[in-house]
Amino acid sequence: MAASIVEHGEDAFRKLFKFYRRRNPPPDFSEVINFSKPCNDKVFPCELNSTSLSEDDVSKVGLQPIKDWRAFGLHGYPGFIFISNPFLPGSQQFWVKQCLKIYPQKPNVCNLDMHMSSVDTENIWERSIDAIQRKGNRKREPKTLLEKLRWVTLGYHYDWNSKTYSPEHYTPFPKELQSLSHKVAAACGFSGFDAEAGILNYYRSDSSLGIHVDESELDHTRPLLSYSFGQTAVFLLGGTKREDRPTALFMHSGDIMVMSGPSRLHYHAVPCIVPSPAGNVLPPGLCQRLETEVQDEDVIQSVCQEDWDICSWYLQTSRVNVTVRQVLASGQSFPATQTSQMSEEEPQMIKKRKSESGYERDT
Ligand code: OGA
Ligand code: MN
Repeated sequence: MAASIVEHGEDAFRKLFKFYRRRNPPPDFSEVINFSKPCNDKVFPCELNSTSLSEDDVSKVGLQPIKDWRAFGLHGYPGFIFISNPFLPGSQQFWVKQCLKIYPQKPNVCNLDMHMSSVDTENIWERSIDAIQRKGNRKREPKTLLEKLRWVTLGYHYDWNSKTYSPEHYTPFPKELQSLSHKVAAACGFSGFDAEAGILNYYRSDSSLGIHVDESELDHTRPLLSYSFGQTAVFLLGGTKREDRPTALFMHSGDIMVMSGPSRLHYHAVPCIVPSPAGNVLPPGLCQRLETEVQDEDVIQSVCQEDWDICSWYLQTSRVNVTVRQVLASGQSFPATQTSQMSEEEPQMIKKRKSESGYERDT
């Protein structure tokens, strides 16, 4: 019975995914958990390790003192931690600029590399900003490279076709994102977290991310961290089976999710970006500028007005998500021969399309 449900794609997860992906008329969002005003039986406060790091340590990466973070668990999802925007006012801007201007740069890999030469994808930011400044809000102009960006990989570059990481396909993981992730993981009780791979997903207002489990990392005892910036999205957190009805939650700008323990291997998806009722506006957390002067030893640096103008234009209609993963256990190395998990019969065309779009997507 269950097999035939799955075959027709109408398991409980797909049903809810389709419900929230609908655009016209828009779905009823009243059952989506909002952690900025949590009042749901499933939500409970989560105690963090607030003595693991000093106030000074976390402020260097743009985070509030851990004792002030609002962290929650969800009944039925052991190991899942939701931290409602723990960033200091103004510091999200730095991370957004890294995601839009810095991380798409070589040697990192992005979807545009799949059908463009490395010369053409070398300066995505520079090649886009002139056109963006000229076109303003005119929609008819051809899309810039920045608008065509769908994913970027960092560190051990995820291979979308074989669904594996490999030691041959590695470039240095960005130090500042490693530092941020090390601290977030420590606050959640995972000391010694080593950020080795990252996937950035760029969502336009009509994008979605298909139902999947992140299981390619070799050590599942290490958490998966997820950072959200820009427009609000609906996240569906399911169980270990597609038949388990998922729970829907909003992810707002600055929110951090930690998937650890059993929930590390749960199905999840992003069915939609929530249409903003006020039109194209930035979420409030992104409008603030840094309140204190940055120090030389800080990871966070202020973002110049010219860069921020482009970032804020982009995020008025978009969302960026960064997931950070530890691939290997400490001291572990890749198995000597790692062969592709994909069947030999799979047509080349499908392989190509997958690597261009990252996870299964609609756009
Ligand atoms: C992922 C992922 C969710 C998101 O990249 O594996 O699940 O919020 N991202 O975009
Ligand atoms: Mn995922």
